[in-house]
Amino acid sequence: MKLTAEQIKTFDEQGYVFFPNCFADEEVAVLRSEADKIFRSNRQEVWREKTGAPRTAFAAHTYNEAFRLMAHHPRLVEPLQQLFGEGVYVHQFKINAKAAFEGDVWQWHQDYGTWARDDGMPEPRAMNISIFLDEVLPINGPLMLIPKSHKYGTLAAGHDTSTTSYPLWTLDPETVTRLCAQAAPPGGVGIVAPTGKPGSVLMFHGNLVHASPPNITPYPRKIVYLTLCAVSNHITKFTRPEWIAHRDFTPIVPVEDDALIAHARAHRVAAE
Ligand code: SIN
Ligand code: MN
Repeated sequence: MKLTAEQIKTFDEQGYVFFPNCFADEEVAVLRSEADKIFRSNRQEVWREKTGAPRTAFAAHTYNEAFRLMAHHPRLVEPLQQLFGEGVYVHQFKINAKAAFEGDVWQWHQDYGTWARDDGMPEPRAMNISIFLDEVLPINGPLMLIPKSHKYGTLAAGHDTSTTSYPLWTLDPETVTRLCAQAAPPGGVGIVAPTGKPGSVLMFHGNLVHASPPNITPYPRKIVYLTLCAVSNHITKFTRPEWIAHRDFTPIVPVEDDALIAHARAHRVAAE
């Protein structure tokens, strides 16, 4: 899949592009059921909220076939090869659960802030692609973005190790307030929260400021975050485990566009 000139312009100006219904129900159903199995497992890669509910499962593409296919999917990989003008590798792979009633906050942050400080990534030539596995609603802890906030570089941040079970380089309220004021249209607000059906995809710049509120509803909100980095921009510091910040910088060779649907069908037949 290639980005249109219009999509590239939106990405440059706003810092994100949203693709509703990028994956079919059949493709997403297998990923959702595999994610639920992974969250029930006891692997070291599955991090839990302070309550014990699942928060994040790292590196599922290294041990689960459906997620391996997702990480190699041309609808996700090709747009980034196009934007960066070179091969890309998987820097990180997360399934974020945002569990019903227990899914906790993700504080305001920039992804590249962590990749630069913790992993020694030279430039923000990497980004997160989110794939919705559940419907993301205005009420179940959607991802909130501050449009245009990627234009201000990497902002000062503090290392918050106490608010949630997951340490994060977070921005202070004054910075967030200023960025929102700069993003707000006349009479409007400077935050957007893209919502949509399972299978929708959101790509956002490594310096785009974002967060998500807790989920106090009965509706889970699982999102996969595939972080792809330009190969020439690979990380230089190895402070985090390999399954959090990967060290295999081999360029991804995308699979066929129908690989995930073929896997979903075979999986369903095997289960019947
Ligand atoms: C993230 O920013 O890495 C995760 C946010 C979320 O899943 O809500
Ligand atoms: Mn993030």
